[in-house]
Amino acid sequence: MDRRIAAGRIWFGEDESTIPRGIIFLDETSDQVAISVFEQDRKAASTDMRNLMGEIVFENPKDRRVLARWLRLVTGGTKDAVVLDFFAGSGSTGHAVMDLNAADGGHRRYILVQLDEAVDHPHYDTIAGIARERLRRAGAHARQAAGLLGAELDVGFRSLHLATTNMADTLATADDLVQFELTEAVGSVRPDRTDEDLLFQVLLNWGLDLAEPIAVEKVGARRMLSVADGALIACFSNEVTDAVVKEIASRHPLRAVFLDAGFASDAARINAEQIFREISPETEVRAI
Ligand SMILES: C[S@@+](CC[C@H](N)C(=O)[O-])C[C@H]1O[C@@H](n2cnc3c(N)ncnc32)[C@H](O)[C@@H]1O
Repeated sequence: MDRRIAAGRIWFGEDESTIPRGIIFLDETSDQVAISVFEQDRKAASTDMRNLMGEIVFENPKDRRVLARWLRLVTGGTKDAVVLDFFAGSGSTGHAVMDLNAADGGHRRYILVQLDEAVDHPHYDTIAGIARERLRRAGAHARQAAGLLGAELDVGFRSLHLATTNMADTLATADDLVQFELTEAVGSVRPDRTDEDLLFQVLLNWGLDLAEPIAVEKVGARRMLSVADGALIACFSNEVTDAVVKEIASRHPLRAVFLDAGFASDAARINAEQIFREISPETEVRAI
């Protein structure tokens, strides 16, 4: 008893009418049912958010500490859980996940989904924009608070926007067609789409992680995207040369992807496949 009192593990009430109680911390209670009701000052979340953002940017954000408590409970303390919030708002769930990782060295990840809802604010256009800035600041804070361990804390995130397919709509009836549109349709990629847009389409199609590191390089003046240290290499140039194909094949990626329209002819495309068969037969090659 003396040891527990000295360790601050005994709670004494106001007077002799209250029974002293033992103090047990949440992470010592994996086999104890969590108490379902607890008190939390509602204003804390708004104050917290205002302090972080330096101004009021979002009404009634959820409290990241409450979310972190709940997430730890429902994930049973698993340190690599993936947390999905479909109504993300200002990103409190992402902040809570970062807090948990900073607290126990975990590698939890979050997926936040937020409608493209506009806001009337001098510094932000959309709610998603507020969430992005909040996560950046929360990440910087978490790193700072972690001191020397901060560098190891992964506070990065990738922001993606749901959009229509990258591929040009080539479906048309004969009556609708005008000669020059046929040549336009050859490219098959919508003109307003970037290499990165095509890459994320490919990552989704191949069921690959959308948060893998992506490096941009130039090979023979052709732009090349290398995902996860070269596990996947993409070149969406409109003029893919044998030299580019050989360079990519020589890196033995697991997967390589090109634009079909990037090859001057079917023969050029078949030749590219042959180059891979010779240099890197294990590579899965695709042309979109
Ligand atoms: C109550 S707020 C969430 C607040 C958030 N928990 C926070 O702490 O900031 C609900 C959010 O869900 C978004 N939303 C509503 N319907 C949605 C939908 N169908 N898909 C994605 N987001 C949606 C709204 O734009 C709003 O930002």
